[in-house]
Amino acid sequence: MSGEWPERVVCRFDDLADPGAREFRIGEGYWPFRGLVVRRGDAVYAWANVCPHQHMPLNLGDDDFLVRLGPGVLLRCAMHGALFVPETGVCVAGPCAGRGLQPLACRVEAGMVLVRAPEEQE
Ligand code: FES
Repeated sequence: MSGEWPERVVCRFDDLADPGAREFRIGEGYWPFRGLVVRRGDAVYAWANVCPHQHMPLNLGDDDFLVRLGPGVLLRCAMHGALFVPETGVCVAGPCAGRGLQPLACRVEAGMVLVRAPEEQE
């Protein structure tokens, strides 16, 4: 399904700290599509910004997605604290442990981060 969505530029690769994450929105109105991109080294991963627990956005409107844990980082849902592996989207702690974020096709070209995503929440 995600292969049918149009590919869009969501940010510049250099806009992402390492590690770093930021939200992007596509579409207008009450229900724009909300996604997030996260950088780990030279790699970028994209996920729908929808927590599998209660289908809320992981963030509170800012780009405060990452928590450091020892040498690594995890994505955190600000609502009830679920933690997700940035590279796999799998929840490793919290009320939706074992479930996962919806992946989005993502690549970097000419310094820009491109993601396939729908026009609004489906
Ligand atoms: S909505 Fe994300 S942990 Fe509850």
